[in-house]
Amino acid sequence: MRIAFASAELPKRGAVAVGVIEGRKLSPSAAQLDKRTGGAVSRAMAASRFTGKSYQVLTILAPARTRLSRILLVGLGKADDLSVDVSARCGGTVVGNLLTSGESEVTILVDTIKGAKQPAGERAAHVGYGAKLRAYRFDKYRTKLKAEDKPSLKRVTVMSDDPSSAKQAFQSLDAVADAVFMTRDLVSEPGNIIYPKTLADACRSLTELGVKVDVLGVSDMKKLGMGALLGVGQGSAHEPYLVAMQWSGKPGSKVKEPVAFIGKGVTFDTGGISIKPAGGMEDMKWDMGGAGAVIGLMRALAGRKARVNAVGIVGLVENMPSGTAQRPGDIVTTMSGQTVEVINTDAEGRLVLADAMWYCQNRFKPRFMIDLATLTGAIIISLGHEHAGLFSNNDELSQRLLDAGKAVGEQLWRLPLGDAYDRAIDSDAADMKNVGDRAGGSITAAQFLQRFVNKVPWAHLDIAGMAWSKKDAPLVPKGATAFGVRLLERLVADHYEDKS
Ligand code: BES
Ligand code: MN
Ligand code: ZN
Repeated sequence: MRIAFASAELPKRGAVAVGVIEGRKLSPSAAQLDKRTGGAVSRAMAASRFTGKSYQVLTILAPARTRLSRILLVGLGKADDLSVDVSARCGGTVVGNLLTSGESEVTILVDTIKGAKQPAGERAAHVGYGAKLRAYRFDKYRTKLKAEDKPSLKRVTVMSDDPSSAKQAFQSLDAVADAVFMTRDLVSEPGNIIYPKTLADACRSLTELGVKVDVLGVSDMKKLGMGALLGVGQGSAHEPYLVAMQWSGKPGSKVKEPVAFIGKGVTFDTGGISIKPAGGMEDMKWDMGGAGAVIGLMRALAGRKARVNAVGIVGLVENMPSGTAQRPGDIVTTMSGQTVEVINTDAEGRLVLADAMWYCQNRFKPRFMIDLATLTGAIIISLGHEHAGLFSNNDELSQRLLDAGKAVGEQLWRLPLGDAYDRAIDSDAADMKNVGDRAGGSITAAQFLQRFVNKVPWAHLDIAGMAWSKKDAPLVPKGATAFGVRLLERLVADHYEDKS
C-alpha cells in the first residue's frame, strides 16, 4: 500500500473519506461535502443509524452533483477522546472497508477538530499508519486467488493542513509498521519453512539495521548448561538455537542496563511425547509468536533509531516426538542450576524460557525483563481473545504495560502470583516439576517462570489467546496479529527513551 500525504483540498473524483464526530457532528470537510452534494451527507445520516460513534462507517455511493465514486463517513467518536490512536484505527477502518472494494485509491481528509488531543498533522500521520497496518496480507501461497478477492486498493492519500509534519511523523510509524509486518510474516509461515535455523536467520537479517546479533548453537548452549531448552529440542531433526539481539540506541553508551525482552520461539509444538490431539494442531505453527514479537520489536526500535539500549532474546526449538525426544519423568538441569522434573513434555515453553531468562539476566543485567509467550491454553479459557495475561513482580512496570496496551489496543489483564500457587509445582524428585494440576494453569506456569527471575522487575505476557486472530480488527486483519510489537514499542517510547 502506498501512503502519501498532501494538503487538504476536496478531491474531484475517486473515493473520499471524512470524519463525523459522535452525535452526527460533521467535521469541516464533511460539511463541505454535504454542501457540494446538496445535503446528501446529512440525508444519508438521517436515513441510517450512523451516529459518528468511533469506527462506524456509512458509505454514500456515486453521490450526485460530483464525480466522486463514493463518500465514506467515518465515526470519530467524541472529540475529547480523539487521539492519534483513535485516528490510526479510523485509518485502518477505511482501508478495511475499501481494500477489496474495487476502488484503487482513497483520499482521507483529516481536519482540525476542536478538543482533539493532537493536532491534525500528527493525527494524519497516524491515519496513514493505521491504513498501512490494516492493508497487510499474507497471500504468498495462494496461487489461485480469484481476481475479485485480490486487493484493489493501491494508494491512500491522507490530507491535512500540515502535510509536512504528517510526513515527518510518519517515518517512525512506517518503520514500526514494517516491523509488525515482519512479525506477521514470521508467525504466518508454516513449520516446514520457519524452524529454529530459519528463524535465527531472520534475526540475523536485523544486522542490516545496526542490531548486533549473536546466535548460540547446541554446543554453546551445552557449555552454558541450558539443559531445559536443550531437552525440549532434542527430539527434533532441527537443532535448537538461542539468539541475542542488541540495539544500542542511547547516544554515547554501550549496551548498559538495557531493557530486555525474551520470546518463546517454539517453531512447532506437537506436544512431544505428551502429544497433542490432531484437531487444531496446525495452530501450533504460531507457537513462536512470542519470539516473533521480540524480533519485530527489535526491528521497530532499530528501524526508527530509538534512543534506548535494548536486548531481545529468543529461544528457538521445535517440540517433536521421536526416539531421541525427552520423556515424561526426565529430570533436566537448567542453566540456573535448579533441576526440573518434566512431567508433561507439552509444557515446553516454560522450559525454554527458564534458560533464556537466566541467560539474559546473567549476561545483560537488564533494568527490567519482559517475556512474551504463547504459554498456556488456560489463558484462553480465562481471558478469551480480548486480553493477554500479565503477571509481574512489579506494580510500576505492570501499570506502564497496562497503559501502553490500552493506548495501542493490545490489552492486558493482570493476574495474581503467590506462594500458594508456587507450591503446586514442587516436585518429590527434583527442585520443581514443569506442570501443576489443571487448576490455575496459567498462573502455575507463571510461577514456574518466576523461579528463574532474580531481583529484577519482571513481567510475563501470556499471549496464547492473542497471537492469532480469527476476525478482522481496525489495525489487524485476521491471521497473525504481531501482538506485543506495538505495545512494547509504546512502552519504550513512553518511559525508557532518552528524549532530546
Ligand atoms: N503452546 C501451548 C499453549 C497454547 C495452547 C498456545 C493453545 C496457543 C493455543 C503450550 O506449549 C502448551 O501446550 N501448554 C499446555 C500446558 C499443559 C500441558 C500444562 C496447555 O496449555 O495445554
Ligand atoms: Mn506445548
Ligand atoms: Zn507450546
